[in-house]
Amino acid sequence: MGLKMMRKTSYGFVMRSLLLYAGMPLLILILGNYPDRALYKEIISVINILAFCLLTGQIYWSRVNDFAVESLRARNLISLHNIVGYICVGVLFLHPFLLVLPRFFEKGISPGEALFTLLSTFSSKGVVLGIIAWLLMLVIGTTSVFRRKLPLRYKDWRAFHGLLSVLFIIVGTWHAIDLGRHAGVAMSCLFIIFTGGGVVLLLITEYAAGKLKKPELNNESC
Ligand code: HEM
Repeated sequence: MGLKMMRKTSYGFVMRSLLLYAGMPLLILILGNYPDRALYKEIISVINILAFCLLTGQIYWSRVNDFAVESLRARNLISLHNIVGYICVGVLFLHPFLLVLPRFFEKGISPGEALFTLLSTFSSKGVVLGIIAWLLMLVIGTTSVFRRKLPLRYKDWRAFHGLLSVLFIIVGTWHAIDLGRHAGVAMSCLFIIFTGGGVVLLLITEYAAGKLKKPELNNESC
């Protein structure tokens, strides 16, 4: 494939992926009949939902997806995977703190008190799921940044990364559906389709088809 043609295909793939994983939730938010709230609170929710949906797409734009590898070439695909991953993990890392941000501008309890109350509400299944997902995300993020320092072969690290990611995305989806004020029927179905599709793709290609054994995918340099 010529360079120009390749650039066009890569650009098309990235655009279509973003349109699907960011455009669909945005469309549901625009068409949905949600109660009016302060604009900054809505913006915080939108950022959070977009970060979550794009994270569910991480499996799709990883090397388990042959179509993505063909469209983007492994190196570009890994760059896209890393950039989206670190940005979205960063946003969701801040998500519990962003939730209490409005407390700075409203009367009543302080942001610190609100955060403490939120994080100690163990009677809420949704909060416990959120805390578990947050901790899993922290482990995934740190073991990705310090991958080369870990005493793990690349193949084992990938298996570990894939399994933790599946667990994380399932717990995170359950949490978002349980607690999210925008998680009506349409949004919940979208979360389940994104997550379910990714998990099935990963399990089929990576584990059932034994892709980890293929030497060309055990590239330590990317
Ligand atoms: C300490 C950990 C966490 C806590 C305490 C927490 C708390 C909450 C709360 C209270 C809500 C409802 C807020 C609202 O609808 O306005 C919420 C919604 C949400 N959370 Fe979390 N969360 C945590 C971690 C996570 C993680 C790791 C993810 C990503 C997987 C996540 C994704 C979401 C999503 C997508 C929503 C839906 C937002 C909406 O519908 O507007 N949360 N979370």
